[in-house]
Amino acid sequence: MDKKILVANWKMNPQTAREARVLFDAMINVGRLKNIETVICPPYPFLPIFGSPKSIKLGGQDIFWEPQGAFTGEISGKMLKNLGCEYVILGHSERRQFLGETDETVNLKLKMALKENLTPIFCIGEREGEEMSDIVENQLKQGLADIGKNQIEKIVIAYEPVWAISTGVQAKPCLPDDALSAAVFIRKILTGLFGKYLGGKIRIIYGGSVDSGNAAGYLKQTQMVGVLVGGASLDPQEFSKIANSLNNLA
Ligand code: 13P
Repeated sequence: MDKKILVANWKMNPQTAREARVLFDAMINVGRLKNIETVICPPYPFLPIFGSPKSIKLGGQDIFWEPQGAFTGEISGKMLKNLGCEYVILGHSERRQFLGETDETVNLKLKMALKENLTPIFCIGEREGEEMSDIVENQLKQGLADIGKNQIEKIVIAYEPVWAISTGVQAKPCLPDDALSAAVFIRKILTGLFGKYLGGKIRIIYGGSVDSGNAAGYLKQTQMVGVLVGGASLDPQEFSKIANSLNNLA
């Protein structure tokens, strides 16, 4: 059985290296669970303070699409690799909303991540009032443009309906039925792009107000293979409960 994927997106939290260390240490047991792959994505400055944890994987929250040079404020894929990262979140809705991320830049970043042998966690999802199928189809087709069949399997697709993210003004729960419809639709687009075999193998995970009460349900009811957790990943007890609930799935 393939491992379930549990990704913690700490976003721009916490504020000090000391707090980050305490939080990380409180989560270290999660890495011992056999049936899940746990990935923690802290802010960049905290990456070096965790050493090279064996049981927990590290991820960045973004990279730039060029390998190096005069790009003030940016971080390259190689830098993340050098700090021990194996994963990188790309195309998060908060970057799309506040930082000018577009489907074209996400596409360039995905290609750079693959070149650096980072596993991209490619975020897609519609905003409140938008049609899921229109948005997701566009994001997938443009984001995955020119990605080869030999590379696509490495990418993890994270479906995060923006209206379900906990920090949203009027966050609403995404019912497993809605997540299932999205998963089926995403699978259809991926199959169209990469064929039945590869399209069927690409890993899809869910994000948006995941907690210990709903995490396992998303996996059981939607054919998704993991979760991307924001707010609840800053609470070690809650995060451990989510981890255990995924680990106990048959
Ligand atoms: P929440 O789990 O706080 O809703 O955040 C979801 C998210 O944006 C993870 O990337």
